[in-house]
Amino acid sequence: MRRVAVITGGARGIGLALGKACAADGMAVVLSDLAEDELAVAVGQLGDAGADVLGVAADVRDVSAMVGLRDATLARFGRADLVSLNAGVAIRRDIADMTESDWDWILGINLRGVIRGVTAFLPALEEQGAGHIQATASFHGHVGDPEFAGYCVTKWGVVALMETLHRELRLKGSPVSASVLCPGSTVTDLMVNALDRYGDDGGEADGADLDRSQRVHDDLQRGRSPDEVAAIALAGIRDGRFCIFTHPEQVAGPLRQRFEALARDGSLPPLPWSA
Ligand SMILES: NC(=O)c1ccc[n+]([C@@H]2O[C@H](COP(=O)([O-])OP(=O)(O)OC[C@H]3O[C@@H](n4cnc5c(N)ncnc54)[C@H](O)[C@@H]3O)[C@@H](O)[C@H]2O)c1
Repeated sequence: MRRVAVITGGARGIGLALGKACAADGMAVVLSDLAEDELAVAVGQLGDAGADVLGVAADVRDVSAMVGLRDATLARFGRADLVSLNAGVAIRRDIADMTESDWDWILGINLRGVIRGVTAFLPALEEQGAGHIQATASFHGHVGDPEFAGYCVTKWGVVALMETLHRELRLKGSPVSASVLCPGSTVTDLMVNALDRYGDDGGEADGADLDRSQRVHDDLQRGRSPDEVAAIALAGIRDGRFCIFTHPEQVAGPLRQRFEALARDGSLPPLPWSA
């Protein structure tokens, strides 16, 4: 029986790398994304490399599109073994400058999009008696970082959602398991792609947004490759780990200091990159 992976945000970056890694592992792959042109290119690449691949255009903000993604997967392949809820965006603004539209946008994709994915797929996985749901959060799901509130709030939410799901599934002896992927800097165009939102959703990028996004984009280009991150993600699932950090050497120290200080006297140590 051929195993099947479904990946949101699968047209580029980490999602596409996950798709390639799953295909290399012999899985059939469903790539889903909002960006239809990039999705067609990605599906073509995997198909040319010999993968059994289906592309499904879907916006994770649309509940019926997420149900449609599940139904299209089951119609074509009859099952889903790994559901990677990976679609995400980023915005770099002070809390004081975040508008209602900014909050709706990032909450709707990064947090509600993952919730919709879990809701759409979990009953099907339980019914088939097996399966794994992994959401992509971030190291920013464990810290509050200036200028990154929208991102941190949604990624903390994803970590909390997946931890709760993991515990609930274990308590009831479910055949389904859950994990959360927490990447550090990864060489993708996340910050640049997210600027696409301006213009189609009422938001408008000003010079400061562009400068800040460019600065973070430049930092990400010094990170791990998406292929490395995908390999770590799949190895983490195989090893049964819940929280899969892709840069453990960078996060272990700061996380330990953070929880020690919080437990000791409720203080917050400085973030390593802004100390
Ligand atoms: N690159 C990093 O350094 C990094 C670090 C930590 C976490 N992450 C997370 O990894 C995930 C993948 O990001 P990436 O770095 O590969 O960036 P990316 O921009 O290359 O990929 C994100 C994909 O999500 C898609 N997407 C955006 N909005 C969508 C929507 N409404 N519906 C469906 N698809 C949508 C985009 O079209 C894009 O293809 C995101 O959740 C991101 O927050 C990335």
